[in-house]
Amino acid sequence: AGQNLYVKKETGSTNDDAKEAGQKGEDHGTLIVADMQTKGRGRNGRYWHTPKEKNIAMSLLLHPDFSPAKAPELTIVMGLALAQGIEEVCGHKVGIKWPNDIVLDKHKLCGILTEMYLHDGRCDVVIGVGINVNQETFAPDIADMAGSLFTQTGIEYDRNEVIAKVMNAFEKDYELFLENENLKSLKDSYEAHLLNKGETVRVLDPKGEYQGTALGITDTGELIVAREDGNKAIINAGEVSVRGL
Ligand code: BTN
Repeated sequence: AGQNLYVKKETGSTNDDAKEAGQKGEDHGTLIVADMQTKGRGRNGRYWHTPKEKNIAMSLLLHPDFSPAKAPELTIVMGLALAQGIEEVCGHKVGIKWPNDIVLDKHKLCGILTEMYLHDGRCDVVIGVGINVNQETFAPDIADMAGSLFTQTGIEYDRNEVIAKVMNAFEKDYELFLENENLKSLKDSYEAHLLNKGETVRVLDPKGEYQGTALGITDTGELIVAREDGNKAIINAGEVSVRGL
């Protein structure tokens, strides 16, 4: 992945750019990177702040042969690649808060927004990645949850090196994903980063809240929680949120 690379000084959202690239017939593996976004989008309709030349905003365009239903699994593949790439760059172990927030010392460094578009009977998957690299300050209301590599390590990093490390990791992980078209070959590495593994978590399910022990993930990326009542819950990211205690 990442053979075709477009770098922009400023854009609305690299996810929108990648969507457009897909409609124009750009290749599988095209990567669009921007120094700044004016309409960066986060999950659940939230705004994603991308200050000028501090962080990484990038979107990867894929034309997978397999079902679009596997897009959430690709998000997990990217989450793992982010963890591995960032660890390589900064030398600190980072955690993954299931399904795919990358966390260093309790501060979220990265977010992923995966989107799918159907056109001409084909499905494009766009994996948008925001990495807080050199941002120095965060708004007071999020400062205790959000951070950058700089705020967490005190060191400034070369953004291009971070991109290269993450994309190299993604390329390897994507190959492993293709072996079974699921996360089977990546599960061990993913679980080695999984925050709260073996610990008690609180599951906020629309049908009711409960506690249990996070055991790991399934081959398709659901979280497995051993409930206190002895049953195992298989949790799908779309429906619930999981918190440590
Ligand atoms: C989240 O809410 O955690 C996901 C944030 C995703 C942000 C990235 S930045 C590059 C790409 N373009 C966007 O507009 N959003 C994603």
